[in-house]
Amino acid sequence: MKTGLIGTGRISDIYLQNCARLPGVEIVACASLDLAESQAKAAQYGISRVCSPQEILADPDIECVLNLTIPAAHADIALAAVRSGKHIYSEKPFVTDQAAGQQILREAEENGVLVGNAPDTFLGGRWQTVRRLLDDGVIGKPTGVGAFVGTHGTERHNPNPDFYYQPGGGPLLDLGPYYLTAMVFCLGPIRRVAGMARRTFDRRLIENGPRNGEWMPVQVDTHSLSLLEFDSGIIGSMMVSFDVWDSETPRFEIYGEEGTICIADPDPVDGANIFGGEVLYRTRETARWTHKPRPTGREEWQRADNHHGFNGDWRGLGLQDLAMAAKQGRPPRASGEMGLHIFEVMDAIERAPHTGQYQDIDSRCTRPDRLPDNFEQELITAGLKGKDGD
Ligand SMILES: NC(=O)c1ccc[n+]([C@@H]2O[C@H](COP(=O)([O-])OP(=O)(O)OC[C@H]3O[C@@H](n4cnc5c(N)ncnc54)[C@H](O)[C@@H]3O)[C@@H](O)[C@H]2O)c1
Repeated sequence: MKTGLIGTGRISDIYLQNCARLPGVEIVACASLDLAESQAKAAQYGISRVCSPQEILADPDIECVLNLTIPAAHADIALAAVRSGKHIYSEKPFVTDQAAGQQILREAEENGVLVGNAPDTFLGGRWQTVRRLLDDGVIGKPTGVGAFVGTHGTERHNPNPDFYYQPGGGPLLDLGPYYLTAMVFCLGPIRRVAGMARRTFDRRLIENGPRNGEWMPVQVDTHSLSLLEFDSGIIGSMMVSFDVWDSETPRFEIYGEEGTICIADPDPVDGANIFGGEVLYRTRETARWTHKPRPTGREEWQRADNHHGFNGDWRGLGLQDLAMAAKQGRPPRASGEMGLHIFEVMDAIERAPHTGQYQDIDSRCTRPDRLPDNFEQELITAGLKGKDGD
């Protein structure tokens, strides 16, 4: 699928590395607001053409736009792409405004193009393993879920972290999509939410790069707590924060009638690079609760076998799936429909503290199918260059 990249900033490197390895996605042109930046990326990754975003959108040979711009620009570029008859795959969050997201999906359907959206971490080995445990009934019927992610923001590693503290940013819109998408992939859509939030600092200090020592204003809440109720009746909670220096809490857990699945340390520090990693579980038989004397260590958890591959940073796998979906005439797994649902959930969590009331969620999305167990082999046959760690 001939793809034009718009947005050649920090996250574009991993996409460009992975697109060169994944079969079926060919980056044929790149553009951004910064010509020199795009030229440097094109030279580094062998992209033959550097041009303006408008030229990408106007080129009839380009079938898909990969939108790696900042959140505030996602919707305009996605809409322009679908209006040009191109598939679109955007970074998260899908949009920063619900109506714009609805319009993108509506016009995409009218124009017969697909809308995909990051995060695609749920296509990695770790989350596919979690889903397999659930599908196999290892913990029985799911009843609850919890996700806790504490970081101290982006100003120590990102040289231009401003957008994380402006509308469209904040820990909820930045980190929330990873955990909410994993929840929806595992447990289905969410029907109502409640929330509390605070903004601990009104300004924050950039502590790296050329702007080291510069203060920037904070326009969004930076510590968010939420309660979630799923269509299935499962209830959950989530904490996402840019105000936490350190913690032992980071966990993603799913509780079931017969056991617990635990993802320890979802690794937010590396930008929530959580395609892979161990999946632990305990059941009625192995729960510490039922043993006397109680075992104490983590070694008592059972480790699930991970057969799926794609445990490194495989950002772009969702775009690969979209390219396959376009050929197979099916919706992409990392879909705009799910991106819009997740955005509405986050928007409602943000609204909730100001109303003091539960917020109903109107949108719904299809729970994506698990990848086939032999997916990695399928891609190798199709021309995947290099596996994890190669
Ligand atoms: N950096 C990360 O660790 C990371 C991780 C996961 C996801 N993301 C997401 O990826 C996206 C990009 O993040 P980043 O860190 O690469 O940002 P960045 O600021 O480094 O790069 C943004 C790029 O978009 C371009 N751009 C901005 N507005 C544009 C417009 N209107 N038209 C055309 N180009 C435009 C800029 O010129 C730049 O090339 C964001 O949505 C972010 O949430 C980032």
